[in-house]
Amino acid sequence: MRAFRHGDLDAYFALFSTPQVRSSLYIPESFDPEQAWAQMALFLGQWELRGAGLWALEEKETGRLVGRAGLYHPERPDWPGLEVGWALHPDVWGLGYATEAGARAVEYGFDEAGAERLFSCILPENKRSQAVARRLGFNLLEERVLSHFPEKPHGIWFLDR
Ligand SMILES: CC(C)(COP(=O)(O)OP(=O)(O)OC[C@H]1O[C@@H](n2cnc3c(N)ncnc32)[C@H](O)[C@@H]1OP(=O)(O)O)[C@@H](O)C(=O)NCCC(=O)NCCS
Repeated sequence: MRAFRHGDLDAYFALFSTPQVRSSLYIPESFDPEQAWAQMALFLGQWELRGAGLWALEEKETGRLVGRAGLYHPERPDWPGLEVGWALHPDVWGLGYATEAGARAVEYGFDEAGAERLFSCILPENKRSQAVARRLGFNLLEERVLSHFPEKPHGIWFLDR
C-alpha cells in the first residue's frame, strides 16, 4: 500500500477499463486517461487536505499496480463520512487483497484519522464488495440514494471503533 505515482497512470487506467470494474462501478464509456489521472491526483490531494486517503496497491511478488484501497471523504453534503473503499484488477480477485488492504484502512481510520465510525457505500448488487465489508465487521445501516449516483440507492455500511 503506497502513494500513487505519475507512472501508475497506464496501469490504473487499464484496471478501470476492464469490463468487470467498469460495470461494478458504473464507470461511463467516456472515462479516459485524463480522468484517471485526475482521480489519482484527487487521492493524493485528499491525503494533504484531510490526513487520510487512498493507497495504490502494488503486488509484492510482481511489483504490478493491482488496485486502490483506503479512505475516501469527498466534499459532498450527503456523503456519510470517512469511507473505506477498495477496487482491484479482476486478475487478482479471489486472493484476499481487498480484505487485507481494507483491514489496514480500518485501522488507519480509527487509530490515525481519529474516526469514531467508518462507512462503506456499496450498491446492493455488488456482492463481492459486501463480502469484503462483512469480513471486516461492517453492518448495513440503511439504503439511500447518494447525489453523485442518482440511478439507484447505495447500501450504507458502518463499523464503529
Ligand atoms: C470488490 C472487490 C475489491 C472484491 O474483490 P475480492 O477478490 O472478492 O475480495 P478480496 O480481495 O477480499 O478476496 C476475497 C476472496 O479471496 C479469498 N481469500 C484468499 N485468501 C484470503 C485472505 N487471506 N483473506 C481474505 N480472503 C481471502 C476469499 O475466500 C474470497 O474468495 P471468494 O472470491 O471465493 O469468495 C472486487 O470485486 C472489485 O474490485 N470489484 C470492482 C470494484 C468495486 O466494485 N469496488 C467496490 C465498490 S463498493
